[in-house]
Amino acid sequence: SLGMLIKNMSFKVGQTLTVLGVPKPDAGNFQVNIGPSEDTIALHINPRFNAHGDTNTVVCNSFEGGNWCQEQREDYFPFSQGEEFKMVIEFTPSEFVVTLPNDSTIRFPNRIGAEKYSFLSFDGDARIRSIEIK
Ligand code: GAL
Repeated sequence: SLGMLIKNMSFKVGQTLTVLGVPKPDAGNFQVNIGPSEDTIALHINPRFNAHGDTNTVVCNSFEGGNWCQEQREDYFPFSQGEEFKMVIEFTPSEFVVTLPNDSTIRFPNRIGAEKYSFLSFDGDARIRSIEIK
C-alpha cells in the first residue's frame, strides 16, 4: 500500500527534488523511494521514530533484484512527530545528496547509476504537502 505514487516523473542529474511533509503526531515511520521503476528503488529514505526495532534512526537502502541491499544508518535524526520537514534531494551518477532539517546531509551511493529516475513513492505515517522538481 503506497500513500502516493508517481510513475512518470522526470528527475535528472543536476535537478533538485524538494519534498515538504509532516509526520503524523504518532508517526512510527515513513519512507520516500526513488527509482527507475516500481520494483527497483535506487534511494529508500526511511525515518524511523519507532519502527522495525529502531528508535529515531534514518535508514537508507536500495532495493534491487527483489532484495534489500546494504543498509546505511545515519547518526543524526532531524525529524519530529507533527513537525513539518523539508527534504531536498539531488544526485549525480555516483551519489544522492539529501539535505534534511537543520542542514544535516545524507550521502547515499547511486548504486544503479542512472542519470534519470522516473518513479517516486511515499508511504507510511507522514502527509506530503508538496513536491517540486527544479
Ligand atoms: C526493512 C523494512 C523495509 C526497509 C528495509 C531497509 O527491514 O521492512 O521497509 O526499510 O528494511 O533496509
